[in-house]
Amino acid sequence: MKHLLATDGLDPAFATAVLDTAEELKHTLLGREVRKLPTLRGRTVITLFYENSTRTRVSFEIAGKWMSADVINVSASSSSVNKGESLRDTALTLAAAGADCVIIRHPASGAAQRLSGWLAEAGTAVVNAGDGTHEHPTQALLDAATLRERLGSFEGRRIGIVGDVLHSRVARSNIHLLSALGAEVVLVAPPTLLPAGVESLPVTVSHELDAELPALDAVMMLRVQAERMHGGFFPSAREYSIAYGLNERRMKLLPEHAVVLHPGPMLRGMEIASAVADSPASAITEQVRNGVHVRMAVLYHLLASEGAAA
Ligand code: CP
Repeated sequence: MKHLLATDGLDPAFATAVLDTAEELKHTLLGREVRKLPTLRGRTVITLFYENSTRTRVSFEIAGKWMSADVINVSASSSSVNKGESLRDTALTLAAAGADCVIIRHPASGAAQRLSGWLAEAGTAVVNAGDGTHEHPTQALLDAATLRERLGSFEGRRIGIVGDVLHSRVARSNIHLLSALGAEVVLVAPPTLLPAGVESLPVTVSHELDAELPALDAVMMLRVQAERMHGGFFPSAREYSIAYGLNERRMKLLPEHAVVLHPGPMLRGMEIASAVADSPASAITEQVRNGVHVRMAVLYHLLASEGAAA
């Protein structure tokens, strides 16, 4: 069975195939009055979300519907999870009900991997839509699609990932994917917001944002994930913003061609100023748009083609 659980170890040829399919789908659907393809007719896709989401859940639903799949959304708060049902029993129930694919977001790192084991016998594909602080592979794929669109290629490009790397599954997935595709990844963060073992990752590390900006082709700002913080990781929001926020002054340090990314949701005024988020350098809205095409491409490669994922 084919799954998409992580970008760590993902075959770069498979990732490139997803990006190519997403680009093709984007061009195919551009300007169409009716955005509907028959590709997944008769397939059932279930989103199972144990954490809040706007972008990921909505874009997976749109992606499935634009490909004519039957899409059912299950949120933990309104399901039998609230009566104490386990993740395993919930997953087996969805498979028994006819799911061809379960897209899961869960606060525990490794939840998607566990699910793929439980659903192996049923032949249900699993997509990780974010598991704890571990990975968010479709976010990294849509970020890569956006970067490729704006920059043309990854080889030799320098991408900065800035802020709360420690708690960020987006950062982890991007580190593995972008480096596998040929880019150089620079992490810029205070020492308290870097993960243990960062030296074993394919990245360079800096604590000085101003010093890094002039040599970056793109800068990806991360949300400060207060909900995952139990302790003081920086003195105050104001001091964090002064040291690591992307404001108008800092944006002028970037090369003219540089792209500004943010996975969302943004904390405007904290890690990114409104003037930057809404500037021509920002590709934040394009990231969301590409998210639909990339998720269509992922569903296509898992459910409708002979391509293989890890
Ligand atoms: N980037 C992202 O995962 O956003 P949501 O939490 O809104 O899905």
